[in-house]
Amino acid sequence: MSPPTGYNSDTQMVAPVTHDDGIPMVTSSSPTAEHPPLTVDERVLPPNFYDDYLSDTAKRYLPSPIRKVIPLSRIPGILSVFAGLPAPETFPFQQLTMTVSHPDTANRHKSTTLSLEGDVLTDALQYSETGGIPRFVDWLCGLQERYHGRKPEGEGWTLSVGCGSQDVLSKAFTSLLDEGDSVLVEAPVYAGVIPIFALLKCHAAEVCTDASGILADDLEHVLQNWPKDKRRPKLLYTAPYGCNPTGASATLERRLKVLQLARKHNFLILEDDPYFYLYYGDTPRPPSYFQLEKEIAGPIGHVVRFDSFSKILSSGMRLGFVSGPTPIVNAINLVTSSSTLQPSSFSQAVAYSLLSHWGYDGFQQHVDHVAGVYRRKRDLFAAAMRRHLEGLAEWATPEAGMFVWFKLLLPPVPGSDEGDSEDVIVRRALKEKVLALPGTSFFTNGRTSAYVRASFSVLPEEQFDEAMRRLAAIVKDVREEAGRGTGSDLGVNVSRV
Ligand SMILES: Cc1ncc(COP(=O)(O)O)c(C=O)c1O
Repeated sequence: MSPPTGYNSDTQMVAPVTHDDGIPMVTSSSPTAEHPPLTVDERVLPPNFYDDYLSDTAKRYLPSPIRKVIPLSRIPGILSVFAGLPAPETFPFQQLTMTVSHPDTANRHKSTTLSLEGDVLTDALQYSETGGIPRFVDWLCGLQERYHGRKPEGEGWTLSVGCGSQDVLSKAFTSLLDEGDSVLVEAPVYAGVIPIFALLKCHAAEVCTDASGILADDLEHVLQNWPKDKRRPKLLYTAPYGCNPTGASATLERRLKVLQLARKHNFLILEDDPYFYLYYGDTPRPPSYFQLEKEIAGPIGHVVRFDSFSKILSSGMRLGFVSGPTPIVNAINLVTSSSTLQPSSFSQAVAYSLLSHWGYDGFQQHVDHVAGVYRRKRDLFAAAMRRHLEGLAEWATPEAGMFVWFKLLLPPVPGSDEGDSEDVIVRRALKEKVLALPGTSFFTNGRTSAYVRASFSVLPEEQFDEAMRRLAAIVKDVREEAGRGTGSDLGVNVSRV
C-alpha cells in the first residue's frame, strides 16, 4: 500500500484554544465574511479518504447475502421466508428475569427484578444484525453523544457492537493492516495487541510514555525521523485513560498534540478506552480523542474509538463497541459477518434491558460508583506499596483504571542500567505465591524490563499489605544476593507515590 496521503489536513488547522476550565472549544482558522468557518458536515473526511487505509484483506471480504437482508426482516408487516432463522417457538426460554442493583452508591443495596419479555426477549434469543441489535445500538449512540458530544448523523461515523472491545479491535487491525504496514504503539503497550501485530507481520514503532500518558514530543520525533525503508504509519494505537499496563492517563495537552500530528501526518488514532469510565482523578477528565477531533477545528474522521462494558457491567458478557468512520466500521462488520456473524443477542438484550431501565442518568450514577470503588482500592494499594516498597521500587499513582506500573530497583543486568523483573516475578514471586506480570510482556520486542504490572482490582483489600510485603522481601533478597546495599547504592532515584 502507498502511504496514506491525499487530504490536505493543514488547510483547516489552527492552534487549539481552550476555555478557562481547560476544555477545548471549537475554533476556526480565522474565519472571515468571505470564508466562514466550515460546518461539521464540511469537515467530515469523505468516504474515499479511507481507500488507502483499508487493507487488501478488508477489500477481499465479500458481503454475506443473508446478513445484508437481516435488517429488512424488521420492516413492519413483512412476510419473511428469506433466512434460515430457527423457529422461535422451539426455544425453551419463556421469560428471563434478573435482579440488578440500584445504580447509585447510597442505594446500591436496593435491588430491582427486571424481566426480559416481548420484543426484547425475541431479540435476545434470535440471530440479529451484524453490528448489533438496533435498539441497543441507538442507546449506545446516545451514550456517545452524552460523553463525547458525537452523533452519527452528519458526522460520518457508525457504531458497531462486538464480543468485547478486543473483538472489534482485532477486526479493525485486520481491516486496516497489511503485511509490512507500520503502526505506532505506545511503549509499553496493552499485551493483547502484540500478537495481532505479529500475526499481521506489521512494523510496530514504539512511542515512549510516562506517568502523563503518551509522550507527544517523542511521537513527533519518531515521525520526523521515520526510516526511509518503512511505510509511513497508518495508525497509532493508544489507551488514553488508566492505560493497561501503565495506569497512565494522557493529559489534554498531549492529546491535542497527538491529534494535531495525526492530522498533519494522516494517521488514524485507534483510541482503545476500556477504562474511560474508571476515571477517578481529582481534576476534571480531559476529553477523549473522539470528542476532541470534533471540538478542534480541522478534519473529522481520524479517530476510531473502542469502548467496553467489561469493566463496568461484566467481562463475561463479552460486549464492547467501536465508533468510527463508516467505511472502517463497514469493513469490521464484513469480518464479523464471515466469522462470529454477530455479537451475542442474549448479552446485548440483557445489557439493553438494564441500561434502558437505568437510563443515562442511572448509568452515570453506576459508573460514578464503579470509579469510586476503584479509587478506594487504588488508595489502599498505594498505601500498601508505600509501606513496603519505598526504596525498593518507584511508581506513579494512577488516576484511572486498575493498574500500577512500578519499576523494581534491582541490580542492573549487563548492558543496561536497569534490572530485569522477569525472574523475580515469574519464578521467585510465584514461589512465594504472589502473582503479577513482568514488564517484558508489554513490549513489542519483548525486551527486558525492570517494570512490573500489578492490578488492584480483584485481590481482597485486606491482602494488599501481605502481597506487597512478600514482593518487598523478594526484592530485598535479590539485592542482597547481588551483594548490593540500599536504593541509593543502586544509582537510581526513588520517587514517592
Ligand atoms: C487496553 C485494553 N483493551 C482491550 C481490552 C479487552 O477488553 P474486552 O473485555 O472489552 O474485550 C482490555 C482488557 O483488559 C484492555 O485492557
